[in-house]
Amino acid sequence: MSARGVVVIGATSAIARAVAQQFAAGGCAVIVAARDQDENEAIAADLRVRYGVEGHAFAWDAEAFDTHGAFVARCIETLGDRLEGVVLCSGYMAEQKAAQGDWSLARRMIDVNYSASVSVLERFAAHFEVRRSGFLCVVSSVAGDRGRQSNYLYGSTKAALSIWCEGLRNRLYPAGVHVVTVKPGFVDTKMTWGTVPFAASPEAAAKAILKAIDKKKNVVYVPWFWRYIMLIIRHVPEWQFKKMKM
Ligand SMILES: NC(=O)c1ccc[n+]([C@@H]2O[C@H](COP(=O)([O-])OP(=O)(O)OC[C@H]3O[C@@H](n4cnc5c(N)ncnc54)[C@H](OP(=O)(O)O)[C@@H]3O)[C@@H](O)[C@H]2O)c1
Repeated sequence: MSARGVVVIGATSAIARAVAQQFAAGGCAVIVAARDQDENEAIAADLRVRYGVEGHAFAWDAEAFDTHGAFVARCIETLGDRLEGVVLCSGYMAEQKAAQGDWSLARRMIDVNYSASVSVLERFAAHFEVRRSGFLCVVSSVAGDRGRQSNYLYGSTKAALSIWCEGLRNRLYPAGVHVVTVKPGFVDTKMTWGTVPFAASPEAAAKAILKAIDKKKNVVYVPWFWRYIMLIIRHVPEWQFKKMKM
């Protein structure tokens, strides 16, 4: 039986799959959580076969808020004291123009990217705070660093998520619980498929995520150079920024 365990939420994401594999390769028991239960079962089976670790597939639907309490309780019951942390990768990005004219798309981004993340992670946070150990690693986005006309609806949900992480990190610090905010730039997944000419691989993103958890980093950009790209973008004065097509 593995001595350590983690929960990976949004497991069918390419980044999450690579994160789950890298934890399993290190001997961790992994609970993978996703809404596509067939795919999720296949991911868990792959972890068991390839790495010889415990792999559990639990159903997770970000928009089914009334199920989040039972989901968290089941994760805690299954891994017990072995539960070291949670990596949240679920996210939804609708096309900006479509979401401007369709509140249901904008609302889904708010629900999946922000509300559901807060709903599920506040529950894990309460558990870790009482236990006085653990980590929460949250995949946000560089899109939350500045509002741009091309994706401000998605970006604002990630901005809210990043600020929430910041406050949670501040709250949990005295309890020895660490919160890592991950801000990917472009990663080659189905979310960005065909839209970006260059992108990091999910495996490289996962490696950076595990390293950030291990080193107790607060905010990491993935790949690292996005920190400097966003530094420049954040410092363009608003009077000039509003005239730019970004
Ligand atoms: N790829 C990038 O360049 C990039 C850049 C910045 C940030 N990110 C962030 O990285 C994270 C992982 O994204 P990705 O690039 O790997 O894209 P992805 O493959 O589209 O992954 C998104 C994940 O969220 C899940 N999800 C969406 N709505 C859900 C719902 N209602 N309930 C449960 N799960 C739901 C998806 O499940 P299904 O498979 O069932 O749809 C999928 O597992 C996301 O938070 C994304 O915002 C990605």
